[in-house]
Amino acid sequence: MKAWQVAALGEPTDVLRLAEVPDLVPGPGQLAVRVRATAANFPDVLLCRGHYQDRPALPFTPGIELCADVVALGDGVEGFAVGDRVLGGAVIPHGGFAEQALMAATDTFLAPDSLDDAEAASLHVAYQTGWFGLHRRACLQQGETLLVHAGAGGVGSAAIQLGKAAGARVVAVVGGAEKADVARGLGADLVVDRTSEDFVAAVKEFTGGRGADVVFDPVGGDAYAGSTKCIAFEGRIVVVGFTSGTIPAPALSHALVKNYSIVGLHWGLYRTRGTALVRACYDELVRLADAGVVAPLVSERVGLDDVPDALSRLGAGRTVGRVVYLA
Ligand SMILES: NC(=O)c1ccc[n+]([C@@H]2O[C@H](COP(=O)([O-])OP(=O)(O)OC[C@H]3O[C@@H](n4cnc5c(N)ncnc54)[C@H](OP(=O)(O)O)[C@@H]3O)[C@@H](O)[C@H]2O)c1
Repeated sequence: MKAWQVAALGEPTDVLRLAEVPDLVPGPGQLAVRVRATAANFPDVLLCRGHYQDRPALPFTPGIELCADVVALGDGVEGFAVGDRVLGGAVIPHGGFAEQALMAATDTFLAPDSLDDAEAASLHVAYQTGWFGLHRRACLQQGETLLVHAGAGGVGSAAIQLGKAAGARVVAVVGGAEKADVARGLGADLVVDRTSEDFVAAVKEFTGGRGADVVFDPVGGDAYAGSTKCIAFEGRIVVVGFTSGTIPAPALSHALVKNYSIVGLHWGLYRTRGTALVRACYDELVRLADAGVVAPLVSERVGLDDVPDALSRLGAGRTVGRVVYLA
């Protein structure tokens, strides 16, 4: 079968090689699957660069979330059958940018009929991250103001939809006019183009000076710094990622004086330490998807040959929603 492999670290278009490799055999607790669709995530770019928290041995195949058909079950796997259409996380080094992948039974779920393959592939990482960030970590309440950075991105678009579903007033910050249109289409109540507007002033004006109750920040750098200037009394800043390339060094005295919380989120840890929570979140996400309340934003469907280019554009901040490889 064909698989994109990273044999040396660097930018995706420089280091990905399409290889012919043996069919996959599932280990205990794993499923071997035939890929239907794999969503490109920023962590795939970080994996290629060697900048992710996990550093798999070379060579590896990226592609951390997918929708697929089960072709073989490893020892001890229950609740799935060959032929099931599933979604969930791939077991790297055998990721989803290939014709086959491996999945862990604990991180695999039946794909809902209400979503097509590309949408189902996009329901896992971003929506689970959004849900855990907003509800589990920040305890977002109805009527609160939620500020979402990179609101037209994969994780950000999910956070906007989940914020609206929770009854929050959502402010989205995006980079550029095209992305602003996307964020408006997702239902954001206020959209701020960071390339031409000051989001700190915009949030203060929108909230009558009070500030945002919850900030969802996948960007870091200036996004984090500005957020501390427009966070409300008892606000919560959820640290989701650092796409800007700058990891902030927060001034804890500022958090004390302004009475806000800086909340870390590493959703991947729940996959081993909170499997019941992840399953409950999946049930809630399927309920919302079936009801049409959330709908993964798939902006492009690309073939296997186009995967490196798609990952490079994602890494450069030139995509919206999810770009998905369709097998
Ligand atoms: N904490 C967790 O558990 C968890 C789980 C999953 C993902 N994440 C993180 O969430 C973040 C977003 O992932 P994603 O896949 O949804 O990506 P994405 O948001 O679709 O793409 C990244 C976005 O970041 C913004 N950005 C700002 N400065 C940038 C720069 N210098 N280079 C590239 N992009 C820049 C861009 O949006 P604008 O131009 O609109 O600002 C860009 O579109 C990543 O940091 C990822 O690692 C965290």
